[in-house]
Amino acid sequence: MRAEDKVVLQVQGISKTLGGKPILDNCSLSVRRGELKVLIGPSGAGKSTLLQCIDCLIPPDSGQIWLDGELLESGDRKKLCEFRAHVGMIFQDFNLFDHLTAEENVAIALRKVRGMSRREAKARALEELGRVGLARRAPLYPAQLSGGQKQRVAIARALAMDPKVILLDEPTSALDPELVGEVLAVIRDLASGGMTMLMATHQMDFARALATEILFMEHGRLIEQGAPEVLLAEGSATRTRDFCARLLEMGA
Ligand SMILES: Nc1ncnc2c1ncn2[C@@H]1O[C@H](COP(=O)(O)OP(=O)(O)OP(=O)(O)O)[C@@H](O)[C@H]1O
Ligand SMILES: [Mg+2]
Repeated sequence: MRAEDKVVLQVQGISKTLGGKPILDNCSLSVRRGELKVLIGPSGAGKSTLLQCIDCLIPPDSGQIWLDGELLESGDRKKLCEFRAHVGMIFQDFNLFDHLTAEENVAIALRKVRGMSRREAKARALEELGRVGLARRAPLYPAQLSGGQKQRVAIARALAMDPKVILLDEPTSALDPELVGEVLAVIRDLASGGMTMLMATHQMDFARALATEILFMEHGRLIEQGAPEVLLAEGSATRTRDFCARLLEMGA
C-alpha cells in the first residue's frame, strides 16, 4: 500500500440529536493521507456540528472515529487528549487567547501538551509563524492583527502540533473579502505540501480547484460525495451542482 492510500481519519455512522432535534444522521466519511476533503452544504446542514463531533467537542450519540486505524474511546480522558493533540482544529472565529502574543498563542500548547521548554517552544512557534508569513508579527497581540493574520496564527498553532489531520470550519467566513485570499493561499500551500485536511467552506472556486473530494451535506446527512469534476460537471444533476449554482446567483 502506498503511504498516500492510508486512511488517516475514518468516521463511521455519527449521529447527534440536540434539543430534541436530529442534527446529524448516520454520517460516515474517511480522509486519506494528503487528501483535502471539502464539506459543503446549506447553512444549518450540520457541518460545524459534524466537525465538532469528530473532535469530540460535542460528544456524538453514536458512531465511531478512528485516527490512523486506532478507535477513539472518548470516555478515556487520556486517550481523548492524545487524539486531540493529533487533530488540528481551525474555527471561523480564530479562538486565539487575547492576552497572549501571536508567538505565545502558538507556543503554549507546545509547552503544556508537548512538554517543551520555553526556549524550544519559542523557536518552534517562530518557525511555524514564518511558514504562514507572520514571522515579523510574532510579538503582536490578536487585537493588533487583522482577521486574516489572526487566522494564520491559528493555523500556525495547529501546525506546531504536527497534526495527523486538520479540521477547518469555514476558516474564511468571518473575514473581510480582501483577507480571504491570504488564508486560502496558506491552506493551498498546506494541501500541496501533503497535509491531510477536512474543511467546511462556502468557497466553491477553492473547493473546485483543490478538493480531492467534495462531501455535500443537507439536513444532517452526507448525501453526495465525489470528485469536484464529477459532482460539478456541466449537465450533472447533482445537489452539489444545484447548490453551487444558487451560491453563484446570490453572488457568493
Ligand atoms: N446546541 C444546540 N441545540 C439545538 N440545536 C442546535 C445546537 N447547535 C446547533 N443546532 C442546530 O443544528 C443545526 C446544524 O447546525 P450547524 O451549525 O452544525 O450547521 P452548519 O452547517 O455549520 O451551518 P453554517 O453554514 O451556518 O455554519 C442547525 O439547525 C442548528 O440550529
Ligand atoms: Mg457552521
